[in-house]
Amino acid sequence: MMNSRSITAACVALFSCAALSCGDSATSGTSEPAAPLDFAATADDFECLQNWERVRNIRITNKLGFLEEALALARAPEVGKEYPVGTILQLFPGEAMVKRGPDFDPNNKNWEYFELTVTAGGTSINVRGRDDVINMFGGQCFGCHVEASDFDFICEKGRGCVDLPIGDDTITALQAADPRCS
Ligand code: HEC
Repeated sequence: MMNSRSITAACVALFSCAALSCGDSATSGTSEPAAPLDFAATADDFECLQNWERVRNIRITNKLGFLEEALALARAPEVGKEYPVGTILQLFPGEAMVKRGPDFDPNNKNWEYFELTVTAGGTSINVRGRDDVINMFGGQCFGCHVEASDFDFICEKGRGCVDLPIGDDTITALQAADPRCS
């Protein structure tokens, strides 16, 4: 049985631990929850598509060190699985999807769509976001990609997205003609 003295000692110990951790967070701020990982691309993050691995039609990179995870998912797509933050996917030099952090746009699986201008001198960003980003055929990126909701909005073939009016050979030719590669 505890005597009153040991109860007091236990209370003091408990209290001082609580006081210590409270003091810690107040002074150093290190106990704040870490901000969720995010990745906001700049023009320099885009480059010659031929530098990136191709899986079927998709050119892939990851700017936060998760390339292996991104490639693994591209090679073996899984229902419900999402690309890691920092992934950039492109079919054409002038259009991209970038995986942002979990608070960016959850209804859009946190993708940010881009319309880019590419020249031999590099890349510039024309439009970025969701609803205002339109592809080279006049269609809204989100409007098509939302159909592939089981596959992290990645359309590929047979996932319910409206087809692009071009075939694989044209996609390959457009990647081969990327003016940033020479
Ligand atoms: C008409 C519907 C449609 C529109 C609009 C559209 N896409 Fe796609 N997108 C597709 C289809 C279908 C594919 C699969 C192409 C293939 O590999 O056969 C695709 C493929 C892609 C891929 C490769 C990954 C994947 O989903 O297969 C990226 C990246 C991409 N689109 C980005 C965009 C961006 C950025 C925009 C807007 C600027 C856009 N798309 C607009 C239908 C669309």
